[in-house]
Amino acid sequence: MTFVLGIAGSPRRGGNTELLLDAALAGAAEQGAEVRKVVLSALDFSGCTSCGGCSEGDDCVLDDDLRQVYELLDRADAVILASPLYFEGLSSQSKALIDRGQVYWVRKFALHRDGKKRRGAVIAVGARRNADFPSALRPAKIWFITLDADFTSLTYGGFEEKGSILDDPGALAEARALGRRLADERNIL
Ligand SMILES: Cc1cc2nc3c(=O)[nH]c(=O)nc-3n(C[C@H](O)[C@H](O)[C@H](O)COP(=O)(O)O)c2cc1C
Repeated sequence: MTFVLGIAGSPRRGGNTELLLDAALAGAAEQGAEVRKVVLSALDFSGCTSCGGCSEGDDCVLDDDLRQVYELLDRADAVILASPLYFEGLSSQSKALIDRGQVYWVRKFALHRDGKKRRGAVIAVGARRNADFPSALRPAKIWFITLDADFTSLTYGGFEEKGSILDDPGALAEARALGRRLADERNIL
């Protein structure tokens, strides 16, 4: 069974990115996948401290709530990171998770170890209609490369108020369809 991991990167519970993530995970579940959602703001963790503890490719030495997320990431066939746009970038919670992916970077680029092939997607929402999503999403794209995941994204500008994405059923349907595609191993995104 495909395992799809959804990561909610907004501290605003039930906000636009989480609503879209829930729609994507519902789509994946419809397709028969096992799904799991992790809410970063409910976890206690720091960004990378550049301690070098993973320089031999061993697990991250920091003992915090990301330990459970690493386990889920290792198991995931598909990963969806949902983040609001904050100051034209990802939320700090999302970026801290990405930086803690340094261990994956070491394994792939320093030690040239092959990782498990996966599918990756970002869902991002901003208030500004013409936000520069490609620049904001670039760290996530690099993170997915280090995770040996391909990369696709859904971006929505013009949604500021909590839950305003519900005014756009097309967006939610698009997220649901993304989840269905991610759950299907035969699909190349
Ligand atoms: C600290 C902060 C910074 C923000 N910066 C931006 C920004 O640079 N560009 C933008 O389009 N929206 C920005 N927004 C608006 C949010 O991206 C927008 O409200 C989004 O829908 C929030 O998603 P959520 O409901 O999942 O939390 C910012 C909001 C906050 C709280």
